[in-house]
Amino acid sequence: MVATVAACQIGVQLVVKVITYGTFDLFHEGHRRLLERAKALGDYLIVGVTTENYDDSRGKLNVAQSLMERIRNVVDSGLADEVIIEEYEGQKVQDIQKHSVDIFAIGSDWLGKFDYLGDYCKVVYLERTKGVSSTQLRNESAGVLRVGVAGAGRIASRFVAEARFVSGVSVEAVYSRSYDKAKDFAARLELEWANETYEDLLKHVDAVYIATPHATHYDFARRAIEAGVHVLCEKPMTLTSAETAELFERAQAAGVVLLEAVKTAFSPGFQRMVAVARSGSIGRVRSVDATFTKLVTAGRELTGADGGSISELATYPLLAVVKLLGTNYTELRTVSLRPEGSETEVFSRIDLVFPHAVASARTGLGVKAEGELVVAGTRGYIYVPAPWWLTEYFEARFEDSRQNKKYYYKFDGDGLRYELAEFAWMIRARTTESFKLRAAESIAMADMIEKARASATIIR
Ligand code: CTP
Repeated sequence: MVATVAACQIGVQLVVKVITYGTFDLFHEGHRRLLERAKALGDYLIVGVTTENYDDSRGKLNVAQSLMERIRNVVDSGLADEVIIEEYEGQKVQDIQKHSVDIFAIGSDWLGKFDYLGDYCKVVYLERTKGVSSTQLRNESAGVLRVGVAGAGRIASRFVAEARFVSGVSVEAVYSRSYDKAKDFAARLELEWANETYEDLLKHVDAVYIATPHATHYDFARRAIEAGVHVLCEKPMTLTSAETAELFERAQAAGVVLLEAVKTAFSPGFQRMVAVARSGSIGRVRSVDATFTKLVTAGRELTGADGGSISELATYPLLAVVKLLGTNYTELRTVSLRPEGSETEVFSRIDLVFPHAVASARTGLGVKAEGELVVAGTRGYIYVPAPWWLTEYFEARFEDSRQNKKYYYKFDGDGLRYELAEFAWMIRARTTESFKLRAAESIAMADMIEKARASATIIR
């Protein structure tokens, strides 16, 4: 049913109310023309401006201006009679009813997408202005960040695919120990270059994503930093705290960004879970239990000096531990299962003691368990079901279950887009530290991994 335009009454005058929405980042001519034409459809124009959180949750990453700046853009245009904030999916239906809106107007890039609002008001798609967009302006002002990939394995392929969702970033080159593999990777993923040497790759790019075997991360990262190239390094960055700390010192001195690619740290749901846990709503956090297991029967994870469930997987549970309890642990005890004939441990439990709390991180390559996270506090607890590291949902639970609260978030794709968006933002903002994952936290995780591997009690 398409509602007819029903003018509503404000005071004594009949006015036609129009509503439109957008991010309005780096306000441009396309925005101005859209607002002008939307306004011309009626007498009173309401403009909804999206929050950062909503943009994050709908996968629109790398918006350059803050919500306040974007609201100011709209106000300064002089075209809006009222500005509202768009915070969540489905809000449009409510806004239209609440404000007695007659016409919903939006650019033609959304053609058909908002037909469902026709049940509530008239829907008008206005032709989009050609040749201008916020995305384009962001790219022009900051320049496109040229990224190279070191390593041509599975995670590297996923990274290239995910990078397409982050504006202002272009993955252009790949280096692999095997040149043939690099050429094949570049052809398959339509990259401009396959480089025969790592030095060559570094000459072509502003930043590098390191997705090579763990033991080689340090060397690749150091060489990139020396070349003045920003580094996004797969986890674990290195297997010792000394090497990780040294890389951060070098990056700081060279003025380049170094970030450990722990996707969970940058995802909206996980960040909110940490914020809720640390806000005091479950009281003081006294215990963190996190499990990550993945059944693997063959491959690099199970062989060689840097294999095993700790080096492969412990970063995830230890991330939860450091984000929730900090980095100042006082004791660490590990028990690892290494069956007869196995080169590496396939299941481990790392127990940590903090001044007023305890934590347990369990990892498994040869044992399967429920991959959940429980954060216990003095007033209640947070439960994040498996796979907690792709945090889409969590619950705060209390003795009185009527107080329980459920939280839902979106986790888009593989999640690699979140870490890349943060990395790109840091480079643009010229900041070498992200509060989402601080250097000290990466160093502490490396320290825990190093100690756990070195001091584990082995059972068979
Ligand atoms: N718009 C338009 N013409 C343009 C760009 C945007 O008419 N050249 C319209 C959109 O269709 C939408 C409104 O302006 O109705 C707000 O769009 P927004 O997403 O904020 O702007 P974009 O420039 O499209 O942003 P981005 O590149 O980040 O997607």
